[in-house]
Amino acid sequence: MSRLIVALDCENALEIAKKIADYVYAFKVNYPLVLKKGLSIIEELSDISKVIADFKIADVPHISSQIAECAFNAGANAVIVHAFVGSDTLSSVVRLSKNYDGEVYAVCELSSEGGKEFMMPISEKLAELAVKTGCSGIVAPATRVERIKTLRKIVGNLKIISPGVGAQGGKALEALKAGADYVIVGRRIIKGDALKNIKEVIKEMEGLYGN
Ligand code: XMP
Repeated sequence: MSRLIVALDCENALEIAKKIADYVYAFKVNYPLVLKKGLSIIEELSDISKVIADFKIADVPHISSQIAECAFNAGANAVIVHAFVGSDTLSSVVRLSKNYDGEVYAVCELSSEGGKEFMMPISEKLAELAVKTGCSGIVAPATRVERIKTLRKIVGNLKIISPGVGAQGGKALEALKAGADYVIVGRRIIKGDALKNIKEVIKEMEGLYGN
């Protein structure tokens, strides 16, 4: 089974999704796409594959769960929530997700440089919170694979999804070897010939498929 989540941060998301669907575990959608196309894009993509709604939800509990509800009602299989907002918001979204058999991933540490400033020093606590509140998994950076190893020890068998591969410099194979279950790849695949690019990324991950 594929261990690739493709971030469709582009207006021709549907066209690309149809081309590469056979090679992905899920598609990830973010605000720019949904703000331009509406929630219906989630519904359209969900006919093709699993969809993760990356709204990085970070509000008070009743608003956060309403945001998640919009995503699940549109056909999303999972939502991404910021862990730093605390246990009440995480619990509220996890509770809501159960009505949809949906998944909740908590962001522990952003893959960007700024992720080192405030998130990295507390990301182990955030991972503990994700476990305690019943999240399905966490988001951990492929740009700092040693952090994936550390966070894996905390989250046990929760899923780790890992962005930062390709355009941000991270390597898919290294992230998976460090303990990520899935890597998230955006620009490295969606810029240019998506089918050719995804095959190249899969080649870089060779040795892990079928294991
Ligand atoms: P690329 O591969 O184009 O991917 O850099 C960009 C997409 O991935 C998301 N992204 C993240 N999402 N935690 C997240 O929850 C992160 O650390 C992170 N880094 C990148 C980004 O929002 C975009 O959709």
